[in-house]
Amino acid sequence: MIEYKTRYQHGLVGLGFVFVIFLFSNSWFQSSKQQNSDSSLIRNLEWNDINFIHTTDTHGWYSGHLNQKQYNANWGHFISFTSHLRNIAHSKKQDFLLVDTGDKHDGNGLSDVTIPNGAESLPIFMKQDYDLLTIGNHELYTLENSQQEYDLVRKHFKSNYVSTNVEYKLQNGTFVPMGQRYKYFMTPMQKIRILAFAFLFDFTRYNSGTKVEPIMKVLDEDWFKDILIDHPADEVDLLVIFGHIPVTHNDEELFQLHLFLRKYYPKTKIQYFGGHSHIRDFSVYDDYLTGLQSGRFCETAGWLSINLNPTGNDLKGVDKVESTFSRSYIDFNLDSFMYHTNISSSEEFNTELGLNVSRHINEVRRELNLEEIIGFVRNSNYFMDYVSIQNPKSIFKLLTDKVLPTLEVGNQNITTSDQRLIIINTGSIRYDLYKGPYTLDSQYIISPFENDWVKLTLPKHIAIKIAPKLNEWLYIIRSANDNTLDNRRLLPEHQYSRLLKDYSSSKNFAKYSEQHYFKNQIPERFQEIGELKSASRKSRLSKGYVTHDDFGHDGDDTLHRPVVNHPIPNVVQSKELFDSDEDSPVDVVFYSFITPNVLWALKEIGFDEDVSTRIEFYSKHYLGLLLNEYIRNHNI
Ligand SMILES: *[C@@H]1O[C@H](CO)[C@@H](O)[C@H](O)[C@H]1NC(C)=O
Ligand SMILES: *[C@@H]1O[C@H](CO)[C@@H](O)[C@H](O)[C@H]1NC(C)=O
Ligand SMILES: *[C@@H]1O[C@H](CO)[C@@H](O)[C@H](O)[C@H]1NC(C)=O
Ligand SMILES: [Zn+2]
Ligand SMILES: [Zn+2]
Repeated sequence: MIEYKTRYQHGLVGLGFVFVIFLFSNSWFQSSKQQNSDSSLIRNLEWNDINFIHTTDTHGWYSGHLNQKQYNANWGHFISFTSHLRNIAHSKKQDFLLVDTGDKHDGNGLSDVTIPNGAESLPIFMKQDYDLLTIGNHELYTLENSQQEYDLVRKHFKSNYVSTNVEYKLQNGTFVPMGQRYKYFMTPMQKIRILAFAFLFDFTRYNSGTKVEPIMKVLDEDWFKDILIDHPADEVDLLVIFGHIPVTHNDEELFQLHLFLRKYYPKTKIQYFGGHSHIRDFSVYDDYLTGLQSGRFCETAGWLSINLNPTGNDLKGVDKVESTFSRSYIDFNLDSFMYHTNISSSEEFNTELGLNVSRHINEVRRELNLEEIIGFVRNSNYFMDYVSIQNPKSIFKLLTDKVLPTLEVGNQNITTSDQRLIIINTGSIRYDLYKGPYTLDSQYIISPFENDWVKLTLPKHIAIKIAPKLNEWLYIIRSANDNTLDNRRLLPEHQYSRLLKDYSSSKNFAKYSEQHYFKNQIPERFQEIGELKSASRKSRLSKGYVTHDDFGHDGDDTLHRPVVNHPIPNVVQSKELFDSDEDSPVDVVFYSFITPNVLWALKEIGFDEDVSTRIEFYSKHYLGLLLNEYIRNHNI
């Protein structure tokens, strides 16, 4: 029996009533009375000895999602929220820790419109009172971003800034750890002794002022072993391993780390916090170890709590783990934040610091001109993958049918053909396009990449084979093996991780343990989606995440009508083809950075001419600008 509460818009407190839903093996809500379409069904958090809020991959979304009510909380609200959570925990004599696992740049106007990017957004991020935080790969592409991380973020958070395997080059050439290699501390309330490490996955495209040492190498380092030896199992109540690395069952690095740690800490409770692949996820690795990943873009505040002295020693597998660990994915909005803190008025909810930060965000947005209206999206939302790419609501359909054909040649010195194909990788779109004002901020959110278009003229029968080749599943596997070119990397991050999750079995951890650590098997998951869908039609739930993880499907704090992520191809193309002659010339236009993929495709097709020298600059008018103009001039 599980208890849910309905809650009404704040201001209507007292009207909320509690009702109980019986969960039978095969049916969801037996009764779910809905009295107000604004009400939402929210599951309670489970409080324990130690409670965590985890964020990851915020990518600059500190203003909140202005066109999506579901994620309407801004960073000021989030600060108020966690300050109340900390107070609640302490009033119960429990502990509360706040963790972030990196990627603060690239994804939002607030972070990306400044030079260097992050100049205005990092000071906002830093107003949050993190107990543990670390670096993501997006802090390592440019030296400027790494300098900010070292000089600003690390300096501000001092020993809370942990980075076990990333190093930073000082002016005199010496490499030093980006942060503390570890943190060993005792929690204020329960005096829990925690040893924490922070790892980045084996990322190789770091700038020359930095260095990432892969986890596998760290495990061989004496300094690492010394830290473990200096903190023997009887002096550690909890290991916290947080970092920018997905918490899947098939991650080789995480698996090796896990085996290694278990040699030193056979039964110590361990909690992983992960990131990078932009999904909500939770994995059970053994009886005393789970991993939480808290989504992306300030859509999710991840909740994790640990009961240090669970009863029920006769339990096995996932049931045993559930007696110790609890997880929730909190929708990043004010309703959820106020519900979980049991506060019904904004006056009471907003702390002074929270209000200051919200005010500051608005000032910065004005200064940066982020609110400048370019146009309006009136008729529809346009999704990356909540619909198939043939659907009129697909942003890719909008782009290929309407927007891309508006691209004009920006180079007088080239000859062009009548016919044209424009190929874009789907990863060049970073977010859905929602109804409402379309601003400078929106451009950074949807397609910020300022790439050059290039052109290659080819006979039609060759040209038309490129995009299908780049999308072929078999070839994708083959190219993935040679390590240098993985066409799947042309996908958006969450789609790429979806492939890894779906198509590789959990070979490592499954082999390691006899225990059954999944509540959800794949066929059951599909069945549940169907049931949830029909139940939710009745109750008119809002669309949103319904996450399936190792504990089941009750992790999302807000009950949603599930959105389905349709598979999308690596690339899509707009076609302007008129000539039936198979040998007629076609201009194939694409972003210069996918040139290696296009050349690979040509080779695979069997087109043997060396065309690399025939690739010509075509235009600087990148996708974001095309979209701006299209929306300014059309009613969409
Ligand atoms: C470089 O600078 C750091 C910090 O000032 C110092 O600790 C280190 O010894 C210096 N290294 C060299 C090679 O001078
Ligand atoms: C929520 O707050 C109300 C009034 O402030 C109080 O009566 C109630 O016990 C609180 N509920 C919880 C779960 O803390
Ligand atoms: C909020 O801003 C006011 C005015 O700038 C300042 O005086 C105050 O100290 C700030 N409060 C906090 C908690 O930061
Ligand atoms: Zn990210
Ligand atoms: Zn990342």
